[in-house]
This record gives sequence, C-alpha cells and structure tokens, in this order.
Amino acid sequence: MAEKSATLQIGNNNFDFPIRTGSIGPDVIDITTLYKNTDCFTFDPGFTSTASCESAITYIDGDAGVLLHRGYPIDQLAEHGSFLETCYLLLYEELPTVEQLADFTFRVTNHTMIHDQMTKLFSGFRRDAHPMAIMVGVVGALSAFYHDSTDITDERQRDIASLRMIAKMPTIAAMAYKYSVGQPFVYPRNDLDYASNFLHMCFAVPADDYHVDPILARAMDRIFILHADHEQNASTSTVRLAGSSGANPFACIAAGIACLWGPAHGGANEAALTMLNEIGTPDRIPEFVARAKDKDDPFRLMGFGHRVYKNYDPRAKIMQKTTHEVLGVLGIKDDPILDVAMALEKIAIEDPYFKERGLYPNIDFYSGITLKALGFPTDMFTVLFSLARTVGWIAQWKEMIEDPRQKIGRPRQLYTGETMRDFVKVADR
Ligand code: SDX
Repeated sequence: MAEKSATLQIGNNNFDFPIRTGSIGPDVIDITTLYKNTDCFTFDPGFTSTASCESAITYIDGDAGVLLHRGYPIDQLAEHGSFLETCYLLLYEELPTVEQLADFTFRVTNHTMIHDQMTKLFSGFRRDAHPMAIMVGVVGALSAFYHDSTDITDERQRDIASLRMIAKMPTIAAMAYKYSVGQPFVYPRNDLDYASNFLHMCFAVPADDYHVDPILARAMDRIFILHADHEQNASTSTVRLAGSSGANPFACIAAGIACLWGPAHGGANEAALTMLNEIGTPDRIPEFVARAKDKDDPFRLMGFGHRVYKNYDPRAKIMQKTTHEVLGVLGIKDDPILDVAMALEKIAIEDPYFKERGLYPNIDFYSGITLKALGFPTDMFTVLFSLARTVGWIAQWKEMIEDPRQKIGRPRQLYTGETMRDFVKVADR
C-alpha cells in the first residue's frame, strides 16, 4: 500500500512528510526532517498534539475511556490480576506463566530490604517534612548504594536496577510514613505478599501483632494496578527525558517522583481530598462549582479533568467501586466526605460547563477517600501513587534505552527575546 503522506505548503514550496500508522490510535505525521528541510520548528507547548516517542506499553483512548496495558483492558487486570502480574506484563510484554510469576515474585520479595546505612538518610529530614520530599531524596540516593546496577548499557544491570526499585519502593515509602509519625521502621517480611507487606510495614508496631485484612490488601493491590502506568504523562515524559541523557535509573525515577508531586498531576489525589474537606457539606458544592467556572478564580475541581480522557477515566470507575468495598469492610457507613464526593460528581457531570469540556472525575477523585479510609494521611497519597507508578516509569525507561534509534531529548523554542545588543558598562546604564 502506498505510503500515506502529509504536504505542508510554506510560501511557494510544498514539503511532504510521511504519515505513520500504529496498531491502534491516531496516525502521526513524521516531522523528523522538518527543520532540516524547511528551517522551521513546530510549536506545541504542553505537547497537546505531539507524540514524543513510539511505544508498545500502554494505549489510552480518551474519547472511549479505554486504557490498555500491552493490550489488556485495565478493568480486567484490576479484576483478575495482581500488581506483580501487571509489573511483569509491563516489563516483559506478556502476562507471566505460573513459573515465571513465582520466580518474579521470589526475586522481588528477596530484594525488599534497603542498605541499612540508608536508614540514616531519614534522620536528616525534619519530622514534618512532606513524605514526597523524602521519597525524592532517598530514591535518588539509591544510586549511591547500588553502584553495581547503574550501567544502563548492561542489560543485566538494567534488569537488576528495575527489580530493586519495584521491590524497594514500598519499603522506602513505608519508612517515609513511619518517620513522619515518629514510629520505628518495620522491616519487610518475606512471608507476606507485596501489598500485605507494604500495609504491614506502614501500620505494624513492635508493641503488638498486626494482621493485614486480606480484603484491604486486595484493595491496596488493586490501587497499585490502577496507578501502574499511563502512557506519556508528565512524570513518565520526565523519566524518559532524564534517561535519554544516560542518567542512571535511580536518578531518573527520582526525577519522575519530583514531577508527579505537582497538584496538576499526581499531587491531585492529595489536593482532591483537601478540596472535599474544604467543601465539607453537599450544600456548599454550588459555591465551589461556580468558582471552578470563574476564569478570574484559579480554583479548579481537583480530581476532575484530564488531558487525554474526555470521557470517564476508566480507572476512576474501578476506584469508586474499591472505595465502597473498603468503606464496607471498615464499617464506615456514612462517610461525609464520600457524600460530598458523590454529590459533587453528580452535579459536575450534568453541568454543561464540564460536559462541553469533557471534564469527568479522574483516578485522583476517589483514590484519596479510599487511602484515607485505609489509614493513610493525605500527604502520603502521592507517595503511594509514586510507589505504584515506579513500574510504569521503569518499563517506559527500559523501552527507550533498548530502542536503537534512541537519542538525547532536546526540544527547541520560539525565541521572542531581545535581538543581539552590545554590553553597556554599569556607569553608563
Ligand atoms: C493525573 O497525564 C496523565 O495521564 C496523568 C495521570 C496519570 O495517570 O499519569 O492520569 C494522573 O495527573 C490525572 C489528572 C490529575 N489532575 C487533577 O485532577 C487537577 C485538576 N485537573 C486540571 O488541572 C486539568 O484538568 C488537567 C491538568 C488534568 C488537564 O488540563 P489540560 O488538558 O491542560 O486542560 P486545560 O487546562 O486546557 O483545560 C481545558 C478547559 C479550560 O477551560 P477553557 O479555557 O476551555 O474555558 O477545561 C477547564 C479549563 O479551565 N478545566 C477545568 C478543570 N480542568 C480543566 N475547570 C475546572 N476544574 C478542572 N479540574
């Protein structure tokens, strides 16, 4: 079939660019030769119309509200799979067999401890430090303790570094939480599954036995699955860009954590619960909806809207179901914040302003309520998001590093500053 192409006319000249078609989703116009042939750049702040890479990991159909990981719908993975199965799928392209899953689980389980000297890093932070500040610092410091897995040109080292981060993130996240509440660190246990181990490290105390409720552990595991990867979002693009310079994987993941912290991105789950608490009761919702529409008011409904989803975020629906499950197990019948969330969601999705702009609840809208019910303080919500997203960042980083066409990412600009001028001595200014 003849290759499709796009023709760009600049003045009296026509320039043809090949159109490439993926397995599903929009075609792309390959403009890699644009600057060389036309002396022009494209201009697309926020990359609203720009594909930064070719990837086979995750596909999102924002209009249909579809999310696939290596072709598997997120609702099926969340319903039937485990987080470690999803990790294996994202990293190695296929769902694991029984033997492969057992081996992967064994390898992750036996890498959950961190170098004991790293525990001293925590005492360098104020107790009231935001746990995300600790995550950025401690995860970045992993490269100072695991030199033997920082050579990105060595496939074996890449695999070890990947496994170490998936295994150690729950331990570091739990330690960040324990440090913030002034309790002693709880070591990982090899007899517990991934989510149970994390809950145990967060909520066990030396003075008492702590048994993880299997339904809550399953809910935690499902929350991790929902947050595992999401195409070329801001933090994943940060990890790819950092990795494109050849930086070690630990530093790249720390960069991803820093980016995820922003309230427009992963910080929205913390901001959404803060917003719901500020609204307080359903009768105050109209006041906040009016503010969200007011162009002179910077306020936005946190947990609403998405760059890609102009329909319901499929993860939000599963998250909402998990919220009700967790509240049910915990016997929380009338959570006033959930009442506000349900009322706000109903009002917003029927409001023309939000419908016209495709503003629906995203994953962050319900996750905060669930995590609060599980016992986490709001400043831990984005930490949990970064724990789960680590596998997505690593899978995307690995895909980029292993692409022989990969080169350092270096965008250009539209320059609107001063043209060249001569220096003027201070006495003459
Ligand atoms: C995540 O990219 C990912 O995949 C991210 C993520 C992942 O898994 O990695 O899905 C996780 O980050 C989810 C998003 C969490 N963020 C929030 O919930 C913060 C609140 N949402 C917004 O800040 C916003 O919706 C964004 C940042 C998520 C998306 O912004 P866009 O795509 O840049 O859209 P925009 O700012 O151009 O808004 C389009 C219109 C504007 O109105 P008009 O100028 O057209 O009149 O919609 C309005 C905006 O004012 N709008 C909102 C709104 N979000 C957009 N109005 C009120 N409340 C909102 N939340």
